[in-house]
Amino acid sequence: MGIPHFLAIPYPILGHMNPLLQFCHVLAKNHGCKITFLSSDEHFKKLKKAASSSGMESEMMRLVSLPDGVDPNDDRSDQGKVILTTRTTMVDMLPKLIEDVNGMDCDNKITCVIVTKNMGWALQVALNLGIKGALFWPASATALASFDSMQTLIHQGIIDSQNGLPTKEHKEIHLSSNLPKMDPSAMPWYCLDNTFFFLHMKQEIQTLNQAQWWLCNTTSHLEPGALSISPKVLPIGPLMADQTTSSSSSSLILKEDETCLEWLDQQQPRSVVYVSFGSMVSIKPNQFKELALGLDLLNKPFLWVVRNGINGCKNNNGNYGLYPDEFHGSKGKIVNWAPQKKVLNHPAIACFVSHCGWNSTIEGVYSGVPFLCWPFVSDQLMNKIYICDVWKVGIGFEKGLILREEIKKKVEMLLGDEGINERCLRLKEIVIKNKQEGQKNLNEFINWAKE
Ligand code: UDX
Repeated sequence: MGIPHFLAIPYPILGHMNPLLQFCHVLAKNHGCKITFLSSDEHFKKLKKAASSSGMESEMMRLVSLPDGVDPNDDRSDQGKVILTTRTTMVDMLPKLIEDVNGMDCDNKITCVIVTKNMGWALQVALNLGIKGALFWPASATALASFDSMQTLIHQGIIDSQNGLPTKEHKEIHLSSNLPKMDPSAMPWYCLDNTFFFLHMKQEIQTLNQAQWWLCNTTSHLEPGALSISPKVLPIGPLMADQTTSSSSSSLILKEDETCLEWLDQQQPRSVVYVSFGSMVSIKPNQFKELALGLDLLNKPFLWVVRNGINGCKNNNGNYGLYPDEFHGSKGKIVNWAPQKKVLNHPAIACFVSHCGWNSTIEGVYSGVPFLCWPFVSDQLMNKIYICDVWKVGIGFEKGLILREEIKKKVEMLLGDEGINERCLRLKEIVIKNKQEGQKNLNEFINWAKE
């Protein structure tokens, strides 16, 4: 058995590239696997520059690229378009790329491709060439299990076959006895408000079934029900947890502002409200304003990640960040992108105001911080159910415009809840212990890839 050589093929957006990059980093650094990481041309230059200066690109990890077919004048935020053009453009080019990579590395040819969601077509290409395939799912196992249950839900007459909306008789969806009952609006396809994604995922999940494994950054303790629904799911989490002290690979694409760590050093223990909404969410200007003024109302320091483009509009200078005139921000620190894992593990952090993206969820749980959940789309609503109702390590906002006074009230409520704080610490201990199980499963996966 030689060294496994993985070709990683993420859907070309940050929310998929970041976690897959981090996973590949673990495979190369901790397990001696060889990685070829396929980026779209769009991200390649930036990634290449950052990877070589950080030392991430090495003999064990190489970056390659293909075009995603999106016209430079087209709107890249139109995911429906990007999904289609990526597939139609890359599908014909991938066999040649694999041939070239193998030609350069005759003794260590690609043994397995690892794709993320929307890139299932690449599994078929790989299988045609006799190469194994696996899925790295960049969200919760429950979200994956619900996509996997779509056909069953349709056959049982629970959801409509064309748009995924619930049929009248069914008020709640209960995928299995050990999964929480969910309002249909918490299904990951529901809030996308677009039948395209529902129909796309109906097909995509079948394509993804060609993968031997569905790797999820989760643990059997966190989501036991999801694992029982979809036997292909292999919990390999909590992943990347030991990277809190080393340079994080998520910084390859967005530069982390480390000055917030020095600022945190100057704050009282458990005093800072950390606010971050991941790499994709955009906030409407009126909600952005309420949030800014809500943070001003707090009697607490805050660290707020205001990513370029988070409020979806530019001001007259071409800059992002439309702070209202009344906003002081004097008690806070604002950064464009934070070293989030280090931040969450800093003793000054009191709570995490989060959009409940899965990576943030796992990182917050691993750090033992209480959550104030503010989900926007997709699987985030489901993750909120886990945080608030299953693990009981946070409270949340309901849908709609959240006013500044409510932000203040909920932060105070959260910080005053000793029960939540105790449960956070208990869950953290359990999830740290789960690392052994994740490690065992990861070894099983690597051994399979070697065969
Ligand atoms: C996307 C979807 O939005 C989410 O619903 C799904 O669960 C995963 O894919 P994203 O929005 O980026 O993800 O959120 P999340 O999964 O939380 O990932 C964000 C990542 O960026 C985390 O690993 C976090 O540590 C990192 N991050 C975030 C930083 O490093 N710095 C920051 O300032 C903010």
